[in-house]
Amino acid sequence: MGLHVGIIMDGNGRWAQGRGLMRTQGHLEGLKAAKQVVKAASGMGIDFLTLYVFSTENWKRTAEEVGFIMGLVRQYLKAEFAFASENHIRVRHAGDLSRLPPDVAEDIADVCRDTESFTGMQVILALNYGGRDEIVRAVNKALAGVSGKEIKINETVITEHLDNPDIPDPDLIIRTAGEYRTSNFLLWEAAYAEYYISDKLWPDWTAADLAEAIESFQKRERRFGGVNSASCEARVSL
Ligand code: IPE
Ligand code: IPE
Ligand code: MG
Repeated sequence: MGLHVGIIMDGNGRWAQGRGLMRTQGHLEGLKAAKQVVKAASGMGIDFLTLYVFSTENWKRTAEEVGFIMGLVRQYLKAEFAFASENHIRVRHAGDLSRLPPDVAEDIADVCRDTESFTGMQVILALNYGGRDEIVRAVNKALAGVSGKEIKINETVITEHLDNPDIPDPDLIIRTAGEYRTSNFLLWEAAYAEYYISDKLWPDWTAADLAEAIESFQKRERRFGGVNSASCEARVSL
């Protein structure tokens, strides 16, 4: 089927606060949900799964919370490597690696390299990712590639210089915790993505919720700016 699903995993803090716990506890539970979802996704016809882990705006949070999330990422990469290799899962990164703590950037680069030849599902970790930042970096990469010469920026040039140009645009973007906004996720790539908003907080999200989201997506009619076949027929018969 070749589906690309992106998930804005939101609501970890609210999950913890609702239980009188520290926000960091919510991130720990969120990690557990992420593991479950990755495990379930490849069996659901998903070829590309992009997880929004940390945005370019999330640096506004306390050093304690940011440090905790970075620690969890490193822990996740180590703990899940065996699962990735057994299931031929390729791990990739989207975002600005150069502005991450060096140890985190190194771990990500290592796992991306070590899973590069795997041909199963691809899991893209959007970490220090911002849609605007990605577009700006893409334009700068394009300009740097032709130094001294004039370049005309068009959609193809930008698309070819995104973080993962070979990955197809997302078909479905899920956001948990009931917020109706993109928060800078895949701005360029999501031009024709279908959105699915769930009120559930991310730590409560399960494989069954993912299945429900995909089922809802499969009922959508995507027109990409064109007209559907039924309205074509109606026009012909007029
Ligand atoms: C999502 O949960 C995780 C990250 C943004 C890193 P939040 O931490 O944003 O949780 P809420 O939105 O405060 O509930
Ligand atoms: C989006 O969630 C970023 C991630 C899930 C990593 P935020 O919690 O940062 O988004 P806002 O601040 O509610 O828009
Ligand atoms: Mg949030």
